[in-house]
Amino acid sequence: MGKRDITKEETKKQIEKLREEIRYHDYRYYVLNEPIISDAEYDKLMRHLQDLEEKFPDLVTPDSPTQRVGALPREEFGTVRHSIPMLSLSNASKETEVYDFDRRVRKGLNGGKPRYVTEPKIDGLAVEIVYRGGIMQVASTRGDGEVGEDVTDNLKTIKSIPLRLLKKELPLPELLEVRGEVYMGKGDFRKLNQEREKKGESIFANPRNAAAGSLRQLDPKVTAERPLSIFFYGVGSVEDRQFKSHWEILQSLLKWGFTVNPHNKLCLNIEECIEYFNQMKSVREEFDFEMDGIVIKVHQLEFQERLGEISRSPRWALAYKFPSIQSTTRIIDIKVQVGRTGALTPVAILEPVEVGGVTVSRATLHNQDEIDRKDVRVGDTVLVQRAGDVIPEVVKVIKEKRSGKEKKFEFPSLCPICQTKVSQPLGEVVARCSNISCPARLKQSIKHFVSRQALDVEGLGDKIVETLVDKAMVKSIPDLYRLKKEDFLKLEGFAEKSSENMINAIEKSKKTTLERLLYGLGIRHVGQHLVKVLTENFPDIESLSKASEEELWQINEIGPEVAGSIRDFFTRKENLKVIDELRRLGITYERRKKIVEGKLKGLTFVFTGELERFTREEAKRLVEDRGGRVTSSVSKTTDYIVAGKNAGSKMAQAQKYNVKIIGEQEFEHLLQLNS
Ligand code: IVH
Repeated sequence: MGKRDITKEETKKQIEKLREEIRYHDYRYYVLNEPIISDAEYDKLMRHLQDLEEKFPDLVTPDSPTQRVGALPREEFGTVRHSIPMLSLSNASKETEVYDFDRRVRKGLNGGKPRYVTEPKIDGLAVEIVYRGGIMQVASTRGDGEVGEDVTDNLKTIKSIPLRLLKKELPLPELLEVRGEVYMGKGDFRKLNQEREKKGESIFANPRNAAAGSLRQLDPKVTAERPLSIFFYGVGSVEDRQFKSHWEILQSLLKWGFTVNPHNKLCLNIEECIEYFNQMKSVREEFDFEMDGIVIKVHQLEFQERLGEISRSPRWALAYKFPSIQSTTRIIDIKVQVGRTGALTPVAILEPVEVGGVTVSRATLHNQDEIDRKDVRVGDTVLVQRAGDVIPEVVKVIKEKRSGKEKKFEFPSLCPICQTKVSQPLGEVVARCSNISCPARLKQSIKHFVSRQALDVEGLGDKIVETLVDKAMVKSIPDLYRLKKEDFLKLEGFAEKSSENMINAIEKSKKTTLERLLYGLGIRHVGQHLVKVLTENFPDIESLSKASEEELWQINEIGPEVAGSIRDFFTRKENLKVIDELRRLGITYERRKKIVEGKLKGLTFVFTGELERFTREEAKRLVEDRGGRVTSSVSKTTDYIVAGKNAGSKMAQAQKYNVKIIGEQEFEHLLQLNS
């Protein structure tokens, strides 16, 4: 062996070692969500590998982590035949249909007792990936179930998909075909659409379309720039390995390095599946993935085989769908609403339609630019969408349904409430009523000021606020605190007791916190999160009101737009007057306690299970106030796990990392020691 060969041999070893390390960190980061090195350290490993591979191009292998965006664009996709067809699922939308399914299953099993695995049904697109000897070979879309498109190069760009499988914990089968759903996270989807909008590109109607559009790109470089994710939920052909249950398949996939949905559950009977459905339905908004229902699968593979399939769907599985969050309806009219900052928002008045289980008769059109871009007209049939607490919106026009009688909308030049001229500064998309005492603005400001997250005046609902403004009993926010019991007695529906309650509630709200007051003032762009950021940097309103734009901008998370908006708010005389009057009327707040340096500083906490004495948010705040940090997952750097009732899987991890576990009482003690 010549000298050069020795170095090459050594480099090869080094390259392999680096790849192994990077793969492990990819797995920690993308699959377990528990990175143990910083991004910078990771980048360093990657750069090192790239350097070595550049020096020795013949050592580059297709499964190297550097190869995630290597291939050239193609003219069209090749096709791939699935060795076992990719079936579809029969659907259910009602509970009775789920019981029917269970009955059919049990009948088919002649007394066999099925267990079920329930999984979120991800709204994306199905793919299959073939691994040989643990190395990714080919990846394809579902296509018609028999033949799909070859999307190997595109799928390789998804970082959470292993190019080479882990074999430490579980031996690898020679052939392994895995199946899963590619999707785009909701946060990533919003970001992508915002970017596209800025560039004047068309936006995607929903995360599913965005995922499909991104995966089916002929140029893998485009796919690489799109934030795609995947959950694996099953297998096709597998050589030299016999699984006994579906749960075992899922566990094995996880061990080989695949992302498996952590919300999957093994259920004892169909009732548990229904309970799971209801649970998922109520928390689905909190997940970053869009789910359109759950999938119920018979757990025992022997039973699956016995049940077989019917018309391209397995008899052993069922999709139990949530009510759809999108529906179509017609726009009867377009009206303009005035918000608390004076923003004029065009609102579509709809023929009432059920969306996601709720009747919707209004949907926002956002602004004139949006109306133009989507070309929305009165009379149009449109797709509307409603997700959780978010205001329903018009997603797009179904142009095929146009009759020709639809009317274009003209944005008013005067405020529909006070007739003041509408202003729209150059470059801004939002039109505004510039009259600060416009009754519509006042109503919104007061509703916001008394809302639960702000001053939280119990019982002072929207209707009462509107009456108070309409009757000119309240002409500004401070006027609220000038109301007397007699004033309420004059209003319809108020008696002695209810009037007194109202006054007491208003009085009670006078003692508040800086966060609530600041949020209640309704500074543009300053939502609950930024309020928190601001109160971490300013102990009171006075110091904030004196901060320069430059000073504000120095704070992490505060951009020029927000800094400008805050400055603008505090330079307006009318706002300063409101703050001054509130102070004179006796509104007080606790100054935020200065962080006690060094007490919990440098300590990291994880909470698990149900806490009884604190809400999660309170607990987090208490730790952060003392300079500590709260993370959602356990890692080597965790110092304490605070375990409440029914603490789950994190406890096992705690033992693995040897992290100290404490109860709530001990946690409280720790806080007291450190306050
Ligand atoms: S199992 C035979 N599990 O739903 C079983 N599918 O109509 C085949 N999907 O094409 C699929 N999440 O795209 C399964 N946890 C999950 C799923 C899931 C989403 C999609 C998949 C499939 C379609 C079935």
